[in-house]
Amino acid sequence: MATTVYFVEHGGTRHVLETATKTSLMRLAKDNGIPGIDADCGGECSCGTCHINLSQYWFDKLEPLSEREEEMLSMNPERTATSRLACQISVEERMDQIIVLLPEYQF
Ligand code: FES
Repeated sequence: MATTVYFVEHGGTRHVLETATKTSLMRLAKDNGIPGIDADCGGECSCGTCHINLSQYWFDKLEPLSEREEEMLSMNPERTATSRLACQISVEERMDQIIVLLPEYQF
């Protein structure tokens, strides 16, 4: 079954993607030309340029941050309480209809 993911740009433009393939939120965005995610390290959790925000609902539904992700996010001045790194989140069926908020800039 396909999982639907909504990516919302800082300016409000919404992109709807569906995938049935095992992938990360970062890879899904990059492979489909979604703007706002740089992913300079290619998903190694060492650049922090795949920063996204989630609602509290979706943040609570996902696996908790790893120590490494926490470390990378702690260097981001735009971090919020519901920030994540998109490369660290695998798209799963239970995430169907997730809304991913893209920041204005990546640092
Ligand atoms: S792509 Fe570099 S930390 Fe996610």
